[in-house]
Amino acid sequence: MKLFSPLRANGMTLPNRLVVPAMVTRLSGEDGFVNGPITERYTRFARGGAGLVVLEAMAVHGSKSGPLLRISGDEFLPGLRDLAARMHDAGPGRCAPQIIHFLKISRTGWRQRVNDLTIDEVRVIPGLYAAAAVRARSAGYDAVELHMAHAYTLSSFLSRLNARRDDYGGSLERRLRLPLETLAAVRAAAGQDFPVGVRFDGEECVKGGYTVDEARWIALALARAGADWLSISAGGKFEDALPRAGQPLYPYTGYSGERCMPGRNYPPAANLYIAAGIKAFLVQHGLGTPVVATGKIHTPELAESILGDGKADLIGMARPLLADPDWPRKVQSGRFDRVIRCCYANVCKAKDEHFQTVTCFLWPRGAINAPHSDDQTPPQWPGGDAALTVRAEAGRVSLKWQAATDNEAVYGYDIWRAVENGPPERMDAVPAGVCAYHDGGVVGGMRYRYGVQAYDLAGNRGAMSAEIEVLVPPGAPAGIQSGGQV
Ligand SMILES: Cc1cc2nc3c(=O)[nH]c(=O)nc-3n(C[C@H](O)[C@H](O)[C@H](O)COP(=O)(O)O)c2cc1C
Repeated sequence: MKLFSPLRANGMTLPNRLVVPAMVTRLSGEDGFVNGPITERYTRFARGGAGLVVLEAMAVHGSKSGPLLRISGDEFLPGLRDLAARMHDAGPGRCAPQIIHFLKISRTGWRQRVNDLTIDEVRVIPGLYAAAAVRARSAGYDAVELHMAHAYTLSSFLSRLNARRDDYGGSLERRLRLPLETLAAVRAAAGQDFPVGVRFDGEECVKGGYTVDEARWIALALARAGADWLSISAGGKFEDALPRAGQPLYPYTGYSGERCMPGRNYPPAANLYIAAGIKAFLVQHGLGTPVVATGKIHTPELAESILGDGKADLIGMARPLLADPDWPRKVQSGRFDRVIRCCYANVCKAKDEHFQTVTCFLWPRGAINAPHSDDQTPPQWPGGDAALTVRAEAGRVSLKWQAATDNEAVYGYDIWRAVENGPPERMDAVPAGVCAYHDGGVVGGMRYRYGVQAYDLAGNRGAMSAEIEVLVPPGAPAGIQSGGQV
């Protein structure tokens, strides 16, 4: 598989094309130091076998924020150094911190905008990134990724909504100025031979923001300036964030936030057209800069077809690898059937929003990391069957089954559904302890077939329950959501 072929970027060899894109964990304290739980989270990712693990955004400056890692001073070096060494020991992949500068926000709803920065405040930013990149290199990281996406400073300079009247705003060329100065400063300070990637929005997804049309030119400018990879994200903006009394704005609550972390209502590879458009444009201009595509890419078939079609060079999987960091290892050994599969319920996103430790709702209750097991014995249904009952009423189907048993522990249940004569598709999952589900995404007059399958900590799947067919009666009661555990 191309997915498991190596990729070279500025002297760094990634053993495969799978990337854990940056994902804030909220495991650090407000002091910003690496701690035990952070180390556990990242060594877990490394052990799972991803080719590149990008560590969550770390601040390059000292501005106050909630729990966030920091790389803004030498006092953070011992912890960062220890973490890099442990990640290298744990797995075959490379590791790179994402480094970030953000503007101030307050609980009153006020936020600092690029227009508010004095020219002196603008001019110090490249140096802050450069110093952070030098620290990353000296701490033993293989590369660094500059955060130019979402609601943060460099993204806000790139934004089509950046209306500064000086050399740093207005036209595309001026909006690119600070990001390019930052890239140049990082290069100069950290060395030409130190790989430097850039993450930026391929579409802002807010009214008046740029789309892939202009992002192609941004990509071209960054690639020509020597970025070693371009990781394409989308949205995540303050402009459409929902204000909540007494809370600082969280830039993922509006439509642009949905586009950044597309939920279960979005199709697979929802943002692929953006990365593919950028990749094609770079190729057309003779540039081979690797492009990372991310956003609801989950199956090996989908990932492989994206690489095979040349739509991207690397596949980012954030929530799927949070759900199961062993995805790369399992798929490489031909065991996708053992992967614990993300269902894009976005509980992780909600936790981030509320400054709570980011966990996956499929993990065992109370766990702060994904479990690991090499057990081979699948769960069983007591008495040999799930005793699945399926009840259809107007607008909704309700499922109930009996709990499975396992030699280690039952971890969860996959819910399968087939529509009319179509093939069964896995539509959702619920954690162990939940033995009921409702499907509010049904249409009256149609037939559906349902099945349930238990899985254990290692992802071994037990036997599928007997399949039950129902005809949904016409009419729809009010207030039913489409899908969810009961
Ligand atoms: C909890 C959480 C935290 C995230 N933190 C970051 C971050 O620090 N930097 C970043 O560039 N993207 C961040 N993202 C966005 C992801 O890297 C990724 O682009 C997004 O989740 C879509 O990919 P996926 O469908 O594979 O999850 C975060 C996403 C989640 C769910």
